[in-house]
Amino acid sequence: MTKASALPIEVRGSAKQPLGMSPAQFLRDYWQKRPLLIRQAFPDFVSPIEPDELAGLALEETALSRLIIHDESRDRWKVKSGPLTEKDFASTPNKNWTLLVQDVDKWDADVAALLEDFRFLPSWRLDDIMVSYAEPGGGVGPHVDQYDVFLLQGLGQRHWAIDTNPDAPKDFRPDVELKQLKVFEPDHEWMLEPGDMLYLPPGVPHDGTAFGGPCLTISVGMRAPSQAELTGDLADYLAERLPDELRYTDPDLAPTKSAGEIDRAALARLRGALPFAASLDDTTLTDWFGRFITRYRNAQVPVAPEKELTEAALRKQLDGGAHLLRHPWARMAWARGKRGATLFVNGHAYPAAAELAERLCDARELAPGKSVADTELAVLLILVNDGHLVVHKPRRR
Ligand code: SIN
Ligand code: CO
Repeated sequence: MTKASALPIEVRGSAKQPLGMSPAQFLRDYWQKRPLLIRQAFPDFVSPIEPDELAGLALEETALSRLIIHDESRDRWKVKSGPLTEKDFASTPNKNWTLLVQDVDKWDADVAALLEDFRFLPSWRLDDIMVSYAEPGGGVGPHVDQYDVFLLQGLGQRHWAIDTNPDAPKDFRPDVELKQLKVFEPDHEWMLEPGDMLYLPPGVPHDGTAFGGPCLTISVGMRAPSQAELTGDLADYLAERLPDELRYTDPDLAPTKSAGEIDRAALARLRGALPFAASLDDTTLTDWFGRFITRYRNAQVPVAPEKELTEAALRKQLDGGAHLLRHPWARMAWARGKRGATLFVNGHAYPAAAELAERLCDARELAPGKSVADTELAVLLILVNDGHLVVHKPRRR
């Protein structure tokens, strides 16, 4: 096995080896691990698509396209999403703009044919081929992508800058909708000519700018579903197939000591009902279940008071003998955690001392009185201001 530090970041390709090495070597040493610039991955490359064909595609009703113009003097970015019109193109400046069209492989068989050279990857890992056209200075600005991408230069020159530092900050600029990086400090820069290809694994900051004249870049992008997407879809898939009569059951139930508590026995029964969630730790399972089970079936939620109460005002009311009534639509449960406990109310989770959480779940009406401690008051205040508890003043005689 080659030592990581000895692996070159730049290699030369050939008609036989577009990756400059065997696919097996590329997958072992670079894929999902480190960037690679391949000079002449496709020797004598001729772009399978012309800029005006790309512009024509961007006019199509269903094509996914974006026109991005950078006002360099004020560092403002204008993004227009497609379908674009002839007028949009007529009003572009003579530099600093780019047109990006996604899924070009679905529209153009010559572009799709490029995928033949990526057959060493599972076809379902491929997402699409995006093609960009840019006038000098045009680009989308420094950013990171969440998926692997092969950036093949089709026409003209593009200057690429990347930052290989794995700890590079990834914060976005708040003023630009393009998820551009606030800070970008490249440690590698190259000028790419037609046929050159830059491979980037996910998360590597990069910035590509058209240089000199018109520039066409062909991005072969991978599909990398997020764990959130996978989890959501798997849950839907399983839910659709589970018969309604399979339910949470508790034939072993013993009399409750604390009515609102989600105890260890309940957690164990849950694991039995959710075998696919068996690997979840207790904290995650409890946090999810507490939120889930306290959400009302018919989505009735307590309304927060019009005016937020301050801590001082609540203390004054409690000192004066006010009671706290649980809102009729506030559904509560609690669970012990590693430290303290969590009170669940209508899908929300509030950290609270176990003793307070238990008391709130047990009684519909609370009379905290004068002795209420600051930490307790802070929790009560949040619950009052979220509408779960309602202050009930004593009647004046
Ligand atoms: C481009 O082609 O301009 C952008 C491609 C990318 O950075 O992912
Ligand atoms: Co990118």
